[in-house]
Amino acid sequence: MRRLALTCTRGVATPSHRLDATLARHRLRVHLARPNVIDGRHQQRPSAMNPLFASLPTTIFEEMSQLARAHGAINLGQGFPDDPGPEDVRRKAAEAVVDGYNQYPSMMGIPELRRAIAEHYRHHQGLDIDADTECMVTSGATEALAASILGLVAPGDEVVLFEPAYDAYLPLVRQAGGIPRLVKLSPPDWRFDPAALAAVISPKTKLLVINNPLNPAGAVWPREDLEALAKAIEGTDAIVVSDEVWEHVIFDGRPHVTVLSVPGLRERSVKIGSAGKIFSLTGWKVGLVVAAPPILRVVAKAHQFLAFTTAPNLQTAVAYGLGKDDAYFVDMRARLQGQRDYFSAGLKAAGFTVLPSAGTYFVCVDLKPLGLSDDAAFCKRLVAEAKVAAIPVSAFYSGDAVRHVVRFCFAKNEATLDEAIARLVRAAPALAA
Ligand SMILES: Cc1ncc(COP(=O)(O)O)c(C=O)c1O
Repeated sequence: MRRLALTCTRGVATPSHRLDATLARHRLRVHLARPNVIDGRHQQRPSAMNPLFASLPTTIFEEMSQLARAHGAINLGQGFPDDPGPEDVRRKAAEAVVDGYNQYPSMMGIPELRRAIAEHYRHHQGLDIDADTECMVTSGATEALAASILGLVAPGDEVVLFEPAYDAYLPLVRQAGGIPRLVKLSPPDWRFDPAALAAVISPKTKLLVINNPLNPAGAVWPREDLEALAKAIEGTDAIVVSDEVWEHVIFDGRPHVTVLSVPGLRERSVKIGSAGKIFSLTGWKVGLVVAAPPILRVVAKAHQFLAFTTAPNLQTAVAYGLGKDDAYFVDMRARLQGQRDYFSAGLKAAGFTVLPSAGTYFVCVDLKPLGLSDDAAFCKRLVAEAKVAAIPVSAFYSGDAVRHVVRFCFAKNEATLDEAIARLVRAAPALAA
C-alpha cells in the first residue's frame, strides 16, 4: 500500500493517476490508523490470535514486580528464596555441563533421575513406584501441569478447580476446551466443603486439580480431606492432578500426605513435584511426574510436543540431590520455618492479623480486622507507601474472590526481612486508616 502511493505520486500525473494517488493516500492513512500498524510495521491484532492468550492480562506477579522496581520496594511478592540452594547440587550441575552429556536426553527423563525419583518417594513418602513406567521428568512443574491438562482433558470435559488456584491451571483447562467447575476455599483453614465438592462432580468430570500444600494460602490439607476427595469421585472416571510442588516445604513436623498414598487415588492420580522448590533452585525448572502407566503414557504424549525433554545436566544434579541425607531436608525446613516465624512476628508487631502458614514460602495477613476489603488496592498502596511488594490473594480467583487477604514471601535473609518489617511498622498506621 505504501509503495503504491509513492509510485503514483512520483509518476506522470494524469487525472486518473491523481485519483489513484488520492485513493491510495486515503487507504494508507486508514491502514496506518488501524491499531495493527505501528510505526508502519504490521502488528497482528489480538482478535486475529487465540483470544484466550491474547486477552490474558499481565500477571499480578509481573505487575507487582514492576511496581516494586518503580518504587524501589522490597519484593516479597514473587515466590523465590534468597538462599542460593545447596552448593553440592549446584556443583554437580556445573560438572555435568563441563564433563557430561549435553545432547537430547531421553524424553521420559534420564534413567538415573527416574530411579532417583522412585527411591526418593519410597524413602520420604513410603510409595512403591516403578521408575521405568511410572516416572517422567518435565521442564518444571508448569510443563507437567500443561502436559497433564492438555493430555487428559478433551473439549467439553468438566474440570474441578479449587480457588485460590495457581495461575496456570485455568488458562490450560480453557485451552484444552475443558469446562471449569470451581470450588471456593476460604480462610482461615482453606479446606473444602464436601457438599460444595459433591455439587460440582458429575459424569462429565474428567479431572480435579488440587494443590497441597496450597499456594498462596500456605495451608495443608489433612489426610481426611484427601480421603473425602477420593470418596467424592468414587464411581466416576475422574482423574486427580495433584500439584505437590511444596511437598518438602512443610512445617511444624507435619508429614506430607501425597495423593498417591490415599486409598482409591493411587491408580487415578498424577503427582507433580518440582526440583525448584525441593532445592530452593526455582530457576531450574525440573518437574517430577509420577502416575500409573496408562495415565502417564498419555501425559507423556503431550509432553513430547511441549518441551520433549529437560537439560540433562540439571537432571543429573537433581538425581544426585534427591538422594541427599534427611539432614538436608530437615535443615531446609527448619531454616524456612524460622523465617516464617520471624516475619510473622514482625507482621504482628506492625499490627497485622497473621493467618497460619503450614507450608510453602508464604504467609498471609487478613485485612478484615483493619476494616479493609480491597486487597489489590491495599497492595498498590503498600508498594508505594511502605515500599514493600506483596500479592493480593484475590488474584488467585476467577470468580467469587476472597478480597481481604494479602500474601507475603518470607523466604528471605534476616536483613531483608528486618528492613521489610521496619518499613511495615512505619507505614502501617497510615495504611490502616
Ligand atoms: C502451586 C505451584 N505449582 C507450580 C509451580 C511452578 O513450578 P515450576 O517452577 O517447577 O514450574 C509453582 C511455582 O511457584 C507453584 O507454586
